[in-house]
Amino acid sequence: MNTDRTLRTFTDFFRERGHRLITGSTLLPPPSDPVLFTTSGMHPLTPYLLGRPHPQGRRLVNVQRCLRTTDLDEIGDSTHLTVFEMLGSWSLGDYGHSQSLRWGYELLRDGFGIPRGRMHATVFGGDDQVGPDTESLCTWRELGLPVELTREENWWDNGPVGPCGPDSEIFVWTGDSGTPPQGSPTTDPRWVEVWNHVLMRYHRHEDGSLEPLDRPSIDTGMGLERLVTVLQDRTSVYETDLFEPWTRLLPPLWDLDEPSMRLVCDHLRSSIVVLGDGVRPSNTGRGYVLRRLARRLLTTLWRDDPSRTLSDLPVELVEHTLDHFRQTGGSGPVREVLLDEERRFSTLLERGRRVLSRPEFQGPLSQEDYAYLHDTHGLPRDLVAGLLGP
Ligand code: SER
Repeated sequence: MNTDRTLRTFTDFFRERGHRLITGSTLLPPPSDPVLFTTSGMHPLTPYLLGRPHPQGRRLVNVQRCLRTTDLDEIGDSTHLTVFEMLGSWSLGDYGHSQSLRWGYELLRDGFGIPRGRMHATVFGGDDQVGPDTESLCTWRELGLPVELTREENWWDNGPVGPCGPDSEIFVWTGDSGTPPQGSPTTDPRWVEVWNHVLMRYHRHEDGSLEPLDRPSIDTGMGLERLVTVLQDRTSVYETDLFEPWTRLLPPLWDLDEPSMRLVCDHLRSSIVVLGDGVRPSNTGRGYVLRRLARRLLTTLWRDDPSRTLSDLPVELVEHTLDHFRQTGGSGPVREVLLDEERRFSTLLERGRRVLSRPEFQGPLSQEDYAYLHDTHGLPRDLVAGLLGP
């Protein structure tokens, strides 16, 4: 099942069950939000999960693009992406957790064709503040799924304050089809988490106290790319149709090892989406995140061949990405900004090499040296560290 059909199957399933399809936001949260980028599907819905009535009703479904920089060091493995999409469904004070889990199971089995024998659930087993989630446990038992109880892994929050509650996660077995599933989600990594159903039942305050919400809600989130990887029976997200043009067009252009190729694909694709949402490189905030992505990918590209350039980036990749994320600004401006950033970075590196070759910078650098290089020559610390090598 390709990505487009996966998306449609998900949204149609919930629309047929009375959910309104809401347009996902861009990567930019509203100005009142302290966070730089939208980090999860529920993020733009936080006020509604805390009780404000949503103009489109109490049952919602959407597809939300998200950006997470917390996982930057994991980029290059087979599952983490900087920009990804989350499929989400919500019951804002409407149906309860059990109904959500039943629909989740039905969609995975009948809509996506995952046999029951390849699914495993986990449920919140209780801690010193909140009791075990017995309702979810009973639901999974009725449905005949194996269940594991955990504590921290089955508690969801989006930071120290805000809506939170116990969650129940659905895992799919990704071992060889000939191998019967073994172990459980906490003991065998071949169990891959695909869908998280959160019972948003509390509001956590600054002092750590939990206030029960007048109107508990259900918030579910499923990473699209991970689901597609499982459905297409691949071991890496880069082998799915989502990355098909990337894996077809980049290797003939740049001969990179596998982790480097993945990093370049991820960071280029993410930079295009961030640019498509109107962010421009700068030394602060969102623009700095974009600048770091561009510099990381250029550093990787230039590591064993400094003549590589983003002028060779096929326009098809920019267009494919903007189309997929329904961004309308056109590929021209995106390419121009990327090339401009490449020029700036290259100039900065040249300057850095020149300055660092001076005798006074041959030993280990002090804090004052770093401050001087930054303030007088505009050389950021991480760039200097990169030039000095390991
Ligand atoms: N809040 C949950 C998550 O981000 C489900 O949307 O995983």
